Order: sequence, then C-alpha cells, then structure tokens
Amino acid sequence: MSFSDVLHQETLSEDGSYTAYSKEYDEHYHSTKDGALKESLQKHVIPALKLVQQEEINILDICYGLGFNTLATLLYCAQNRPQTQLNIYSPELDAALIKSLKKFRYPAEFAAFRDVITALSDSGKYKSNNLYIELFLGDAREYVKRFENKFDIVYQDAFSPATNPMLWTQEYFSDIKKLMKKDAILTTYSIALKTRLALHVNGFHVYINKGEDYRDATIASLSALTSLEHVNMEHKIRCNPDVKPLQDSELS
Ligand SMILES: C[S@@+](CC[C@H](N)C(=O)[O-])C[C@H]1O[C@@H](n2cnc3c(N)ncnc32)[C@H](O)[C@@H]1O
Repeated sequence: MSFSDVLHQETLSEDGSYTAYSKEYDEHYHSTKDGALKESLQKHVIPALKLVQQEEINILDICYGLGFNTLATLLYCAQNRPQTQLNIYSPELDAALIKSLKKFRYPAEFAAFRDVITALSDSGKYKSNNLYIELFLGDAREYVKRFENKFDIVYQDAFSPATNPMLWTQEYFSDIKKLMKKDAILTTYSIALKTRLALHVNGFHVYINKGEDYRDATIASLSALTSLEHVNMEHKIRCNPDVKPLQDSELS
C-alpha cells in the first residue's frame, strides 16, 4: 500500500516538496503556497536555531505529523552546526501516519536522514552520537504535562486553531510555558490575534517573523528579544477589546 492510499493524500507544494492533505482535519499539513520544506525552515527551524546558540538543545516539536520540522532541524544543523547535540521530543496522535512515513515522498534534501525516518516510523526512537529523537504516540496535551523547565525551542505546528483548538488555548500555552526554559523560543505559523493573546496572557513577549518570500509568522519568548519586531499587544487589545484567547471551557 502506498502512502496516499490511507487517510492522507500527498500534495505537491509551491517549493517543489510534497506535503499531505488530511481528510480527517480537512487541512494540509503545511502551507501549499509557502511550500512544505520552505515553511518548516523559514517559520520554525532557521529563526529558532539562529536565536538559540547552545551546544546542546532540547526541542519540543508539536506535533510530529510528517516530521518536516524535526528533519529540517537535522538538515540545518548538518549544514551549519554539526557539533550541536540535538534532543528532539515530539508527540503525535496518529500512529498509522507514523507507520506510513517510510513511504512518504520526502524532498531530496532529507535523503541523508533515511535511517532516521525508518527508525522513527518503526520504533518511534532514534539515537546516534549527537542526536536523540523520541516520538510519543498519544495526546500532546497529556505529554506536555510531563516536563518542566526543559526545552530551549518549541515548534508550535498543530493544525489550525479552527480545526484543532485544543492545542491553542490559554491553558495549553500555560503548560507550554512551564516546560520552556526562561530564554526559550516558541515558533508558530499562526498570526491569529487569539493565538497571540493566549501567549500574551501567559507572559510571553510576541514578535513577528517576517521574510521576503514567505507569509508572516510568530515568534514568542519569555525573555525580551531585541533582534525582532515586537507586536504591541496592549495596542491590539485596545483596538480589539472583544477578542479573547481560546479557553479549554470552549472546547466541545
Ligand atoms: C499540521 S500537522 C503537523 C505538521 C508537522 N509539524 C510537519 O512538519 O509535518 C498536525 C499534526 O498534529 C497531530 N495531532 C492533532 N491533535 C493532536 C494531539 N492532541 N496530540 C498529538 N498530536 C495531535 C495530527 O495528527 C497531525 O499529524
């Protein structure tokens, strides 16, 4: 059985890399306009790894999906900082998807990581000299409660707040805050005011991730960052007094 026979259909995106469409969520795994590989690199991996300079980095990849953020992290580090020790933790609800990833048409840039892709698909774990990856097959909301003050980077890459609201609420980001170190970085493609408010009320500073050839995204941090354009949340709240962060109590 090929990858596209199951609940997810491979879709060619604008940068020439394949993403997938989820029938269950009626949504693509990546922006087909920005391109799967480009979105992963520009909205998550590059900004996070430019800001986090430690020699050992703990990354929480929410959620694994097709694994682009994890694999693009390996790609970036192989090209730019091969000595970095990477420890990547990633929850994923869809066990059948993980099993099918061996058959996914990944971009040529990921060819060097074929053994990683196979090991994660088969056993959910990979370990080598300076790399540790652990997948958790289950609910991210449960998984994130296991950690405290551990992560340097969080890739917040769930399906959209409209289709997967449980991974965008004020209470969810409160749990995420607890597991981040005080100088950690959170990246997300979402620029929705509700998302930024959920971060803001939890004490995050909110910044714009802007680039010439991709749509704006968001970076958040518990410590102030001087190198990025700050979002003036007080002004946004004054202009949009009726907009509130998503709450767990709104979930059906
Ligand atoms: C947008 S995709 C992630 C894309 C991924 N970062 C990538 O680069 O391929 C969202 C993923 O979240 C998973 N998911 C949805 N709800 C979840 C939950 N409560 N816990 C864990 N995973 C969840 C879905 O199965 C899907 O694979």
